[in-house]
Amino acid sequence: MKAALYREYGSPNVVHIEELPLPEVESNEVRVRVHATTVSSADSRIRAMRIPTGFKTLSRLIFGITRPKNQVLGSEFSGTIDAVGPDVTQFNVGDSVFGAYEGRGTHAEYFSMAEDEAIEHLPAGFTHEEAAALPFGGLTSLIFLRDFGHIKAGQNVLVIGASGSLGSAAIQFAAHFGAEVTGVCSTKNVELVHSLGASRVIDYTQSNFADEGEHYDLIYETVGKVPFSECKKALKPGGSCLMAVAGIPDYLRMLINPIAGSKKLVTGVAIFKKESLSDLKKLMEEGAIKSVIDSIHTLTDITKAHALVDTGHKRGSVVVRVID
Ligand SMILES: NC(=O)c1ccc[n+]([C@@H]2O[C@H](COP(=O)([O-])OP(=O)(O)OC[C@H]3O[C@@H](n4cnc5c(N)ncnc54)[C@H](OP(=O)(O)O)[C@@H]3O)[C@@H](O)[C@H]2O)c1
Repeated sequence: MKAALYREYGSPNVVHIEELPLPEVESNEVRVRVHATTVSSADSRIRAMRIPTGFKTLSRLIFGITRPKNQVLGSEFSGTIDAVGPDVTQFNVGDSVFGAYEGRGTHAEYFSMAEDEAIEHLPAGFTHEEAAALPFGGLTSLIFLRDFGHIKAGQNVLVIGASGSLGSAAIQFAAHFGAEVTGVCSTKNVELVHSLGASRVIDYTQSNFADEGEHYDLIYETVGKVPFSECKKALKPGGSCLMAVAGIPDYLRMLINPIAGSKKLVTGVAIFKKESLSDLKKLMEEGAIKSVIDSIHTLTDITKAHALVDTGHKRGSVVVRVID
């Protein structure tokens, strides 16, 4: 099978296509024939070892000290079940599925994962490209807003980075949960962010949200560019700033914060589990969330997809079509 490999950390040019043997299937695993996957911001970070402050050593221990241990990137996928292990009960060969594989390896024609991980049947009305574009941003934003932020109807919510994969999902979820939503993005994305459900959009090239005098119950910072000290100015007393990108200093601030005041910094790592994917699937079926696709590339063109993600200005997800 064809797969996109990176044998060293670095620029998009370290990624190239190679032939690999077809992955085996353990007794509790399914093998997926990948129709579509994405190059996510996490794939770009890991490939380049561009890691938030203080986590570099830990990341090298996880992903490989001098070179990558697992040489195929990719977590989001949509495809067809190609083989099942003898103990698999939820899936059959030929089923259309989608999900997010924490083990990574979806930048390939086939990969295998356990059936109790984040894999579900494809929701009706979604193409493979649309379904592959949602789990990374959708699951992360669902976990941050619902599980970490306890979002409630009627709250005033600000999403910074509203046009990215996390932000575009967050705007839609926050509106669906009944919040009053404001998005922050650049001029070219203002219309998109309005169309996703934001009642107000702030163009960060024209004005700074913290100077506008508006106060929020929740600020979801998905870009890693606005520090907590700045977000704090626009939080209501008792409000929370949810930071998707955080270094060790932010984790320390989260610990000491309850002593320092009522405005909270909340961060963490979104772990993609089957239960959250099932919730995401329901929201997709209810029409609460739709995919935002920046562009679609072929597997052989994946270097271009990496370069696009590296700019930090993609809209939603950069999809890679693997098998038509
Ligand atoms: N903690 C976790 O568990 C977790 C999980 C997943 C991802 N993450 C992290 O979350 C981050 C975001 O991921 P993503 O996939 O959403 O990234 P992305 O899709 O690349 O987001 C880029 C978006 O950020 C916007 N942006 C850039 N500079 C901005 C600024 N100064 N103000 C406001 N918006 C700005 C861009 O919009 P414009 O083009 O309009 O500027 C673009 O749409 C990544 O760093 C990723 O590593 C964390």
